[in-house]
Amino acid sequence: MPKLIIDDITVEVAEGTTVLEAAQAVDIPIPHFCWHPALGKAGACRACAVKMLEGPVKGIQMSCMLPVQDGMVVSTTDPEAVAMRRHIIEWLMINHPHDCPVCDEGGECQLQDFTIAAGHGIRRYSGKKRTHVNQDLGPFIQHEMNRCIQCYRCVRYYQEYAGGTDFGVMGSAGRVYFGRFQDGELESPFSGNLVDICPTGVFTDKTARFRARYWDYEMAPSVCSGCSLGCNTTPVARYRELLKITARKNEAVNGWFICDRGRFSNSAVNDPQRPRTPLVDGRESTRDEALEALALRIAETEQLYGTGSIAIVGSSRLALEAALLLPQLAQLTSAGALCYFTSEEERATTTSHLGLLSGGTSASQQEIRESDCIVVSGCDPLQDAPMLALAVRQAWRDGATVYVVGDGIVLPCEFTAVAAVDAVPLAAAKKPVLICSASCNSDHPAGLLVQHSQLKLAVIFPAANSYGAAQLAGEQGGVSLERAVASGKIKGIISVEADIPAHLLAGIPFVAALDWRMTETVRAAQIFLPTTAWVEMDGTSINNEGRAQRFKKVMNPGLPIRGLDPAGHPPHLHRTVPPGGEAQPAWQTLALLIERVSGEPVTEPFSGRWERLRGLDAGSEGVMIHDL
Ligand code: FES
Repeated sequence: MPKLIIDDITVEVAEGTTVLEAAQAVDIPIPHFCWHPALGKAGACRACAVKMLEGPVKGIQMSCMLPVQDGMVVSTTDPEAVAMRRHIIEWLMINHPHDCPVCDEGGECQLQDFTIAAGHGIRRYSGKKRTHVNQDLGPFIQHEMNRCIQCYRCVRYYQEYAGGTDFGVMGSAGRVYFGRFQDGELESPFSGNLVDICPTGVFTDKTARFRARYWDYEMAPSVCSGCSLGCNTTPVARYRELLKITARKNEAVNGWFICDRGRFSNSAVNDPQRPRTPLVDGRESTRDEALEALALRIAETEQLYGTGSIAIVGSSRLALEAALLLPQLAQLTSAGALCYFTSEEERATTTSHLGLLSGGTSASQQEIRESDCIVVSGCDPLQDAPMLALAVRQAWRDGATVYVVGDGIVLPCEFTAVAAVDAVPLAAAKKPVLICSASCNSDHPAGLLVQHSQLKLAVIFPAANSYGAAQLAGEQGGVSLERAVASGKIKGIISVEADIPAHLLAGIPFVAALDWRMTETVRAAQIFLPTTAWVEMDGTSINNEGRAQRFKKVMNPGLPIRGLDPAGHPPHLHRTVPPGGEAQPAWQTLALLIERVSGEPVTEPFSGRWERLRGLDAGSEGVMIHDL
């Protein structure tokens, strides 16, 4: 491993590392705009200049372009390097509108930070600035071309990394334009990453425009609940409103990016129709009254219809903490059924695919990106788990061959259509991955796993915590609600964030619901208790690989301040709980109910083999549950 000295610090790094990365490894910051770990080098901005004092290369060099070599002595503080960077910043800022006070990037802008760091505080240029006309890029991305410093990150990301074709760079010399051929919504399902990747304010999130500054943000590490992949995010909230969602790096999972579906998915959390108040027979009540009534109705139902007449129903969108308490509640109430799935088909297919993944055969997104042969069989990743499609593209860019079985499947890369997986030369591949859906028959992937020991499987499950639900259903003897209701014994349903179809609720005399969404089950419930959305609580979910990941509370539950008063002023009433803020995480409500029924307090949802998840760090890559 080559060894070099940067600002008197000796650094030893892997072959191929650049001087910029070596400096970052020992916390020496070097300004950079065009370089990005996911995109690599371009040498476009010249902001990363350092002085090479000794070794095979001498003089001013671009640190992002220079691979480290033994014996290099680098100075980031040499006056010549500092002056070069200062001049570069000044040139980059010549045409910039200096509009930080009205720019949404202000406060979280790489250009702003490095401009200040370079000491460029006074504009000496008094000539006319080059200006551009902005484009309407659709409902999600705001375009402000005058702030562009031509680092080319956007176009490198959009075209090379994401495979988009409707956005590019046009022009020449000093008039370079990054946009579409004409106004129109960006077509790539990964277009939102332009907001994160642009180091200035050319692309900002239109949905959160002018709503808050960086220092106003409430943020925490979180996990996307949009599909079963569990991509890492940082949601941003202010005044109890989820403003926007940004990507968070997790090398093993989503890398640096997320899909647009996950990014622009705050409407359910901000939905004005969200049920926020406990209800007993349609009357508003306190949480205590609702819990009391619920405990009473459980007892009454059992008295009327006998032991085993209650079904406790969870779902695959429920966080692991609550899912783990359901068996305890089922036992205490002598429930006739413990259900993690409503549909029997979903239970059966999810469980059978889970069986294929338990031995470490699941492929992470990173493993897909590094695969040399990928088969997409009978599923549409772009529709059901978009980041898998982006991972497939990265493998293809690195030389992997991609095969598709099935009609009508679109991928952001070239692929070969084959009639069946058997036509793919899997035996010749070193790191083959099969991507399939949990809704397909699991017999075929099972057979392939036996034939090809090196094969890994990426299964697209129906929801964020399907893996966890199937795991617990298997461990706890869970049945589907469909099957439980068909037995004719079920007369009461306690639904915990479950979406139960109307035909399964018909004829059930007693329904209680815990949820944060307004669903048919909530509408049908005689007793309702509001729960928190994932951004309003700490929790854990298990993604499609079996990776448990922790998400943290971003904001308090309650009605957003915007909308409370037409004049836009916070309410003048003094109260200890914000309006609509009675919601609590589902597991805490379940714990209170269990305490009410059993007299025993529940303070911790993780017990037994799950105890190791207690200290799970939200900033980590997560824990594979088959290692627990
Ligand atoms: Fe090195 Fe842009 S970061 S030239």
